[in-house]
Amino acid sequence: MKALILSGGKGTRLRPITHTSAKQLVPVANRPILFYGLDAVRAAGIEEVGIVVGDTHREIRAAVGDGSSFGLRVEYIRQEQPLGLAHAVKVSHGFLRDSPFVMYLGDNLIPDGITDLVHEFEKGECDAQILLAHVPNPSAFGVAQLDARGRVLRLDEKPRKPKSDLALVGVYMFDSTVFEAVNAIEPSGRGELEITDAIQYLIDHGRRVRSHVIHGWWKDTGKLEDMLEANRIVLTSLERRVEGSVDAESQIEGQVVLEKGARVEASVLRGPLIVGSGAVIRASYVGPFTSIAADCVIEHSEIEHSIVLESSQIVGIGARIESSLVGRNVRIWRGEARPKAYKFMVGDSSEIHLS
Ligand code: TTP
Repeated sequence: MKALILSGGKGTRLRPITHTSAKQLVPVANRPILFYGLDAVRAAGIEEVGIVVGDTHREIRAAVGDGSSFGLRVEYIRQEQPLGLAHAVKVSHGFLRDSPFVMYLGDNLIPDGITDLVHEFEKGECDAQILLAHVPNPSAFGVAQLDARGRVLRLDEKPRKPKSDLALVGVYMFDSTVFEAVNAIEPSGRGELEITDAIQYLIDHGRRVRSHVIHGWWKDTGKLEDMLEANRIVLTSLERRVEGSVDAESQIEGQVVLEKGARVEASVLRGPLIVGSGAVIRASYVGPFTSIAADCVIEHSEIEHSIVLESSQIVGIGARIESSLVGRNVRIWRGEARPKAYKFMVGDSSEIHLS
């Protein structure tokens, strides 16, 4: 069994972060979201991984390398344009050849892993296996309609009137019959080769497509709120580890990970949260569900339920910052100069919310 991890795409919903970085590398608890997928694949006993990459191929390569640090052998497959999930399968034929494989969307997080599912598929009782979850907003997903025995009858991509609340989760398993499907289908209305159409093709041609409904937590982290929720879930599972320095005036409460080389001075940290190495928290409050990356400075400020990427500075922001994603090398600070006014230098597609 091989794995195909999709790390191309446009990432429009996470702009401006994705103007300068791959969305699969946005960190959750200070670790790129993609790394959790690589761990899940390795835990399922798979060693050969193809990573589909697009415009952000350099950063993905720099972060994952040859995969040896994950116990994997990684090859990169260049998709010149993000023409759809089924297109990503099509361009990966040379890597996959006739091996069965699991396809994993690089921006998905499934804390319970995929080991049982992979083992189930390895029994060879079906040609494709999809993972489904009950969701409150099926119109935002690929939606499955099942018969009474759980076999898949129909799949619809982002339907206006969904026929069930069962959404496709970003993990799919296929044998080599999928190539017939991805070569036969036509681009959808949005110009993409849809994986839902490829699976529908398999169903229509008498292939055995099985579904598995998961009840554990999973997240497609395409949007800011999802990213924050993934961060919250992963932080909740971390164990307290305080290796950085904490002065006598500070208070550290709950599940706090303070990496070696981080410094906390005259501050209150209330976990679950993580602070990366070289970061300084001074005269501040850092509240639950917050990830502060390496080399950040938080001074005379309050922040919670947020993700701050490397080397950013938040200084003098006494009003609580929450539910925020702050990119790399960002400075948010309050000065004393008159006139008292807001001043911004903000990149394209940014969002600032004041209240
Ligand atoms: P999506 O989140 O569906 O698409 P996207 O990355 O283009 O994002 P947005 O809708 O915000 O513009 O993609 C799911 C995953 O699959 C993600 O990790 C990117 C990857 N992908 C590819 O590798 N190739 C593709 O052609 C597409 C569409 C997605």
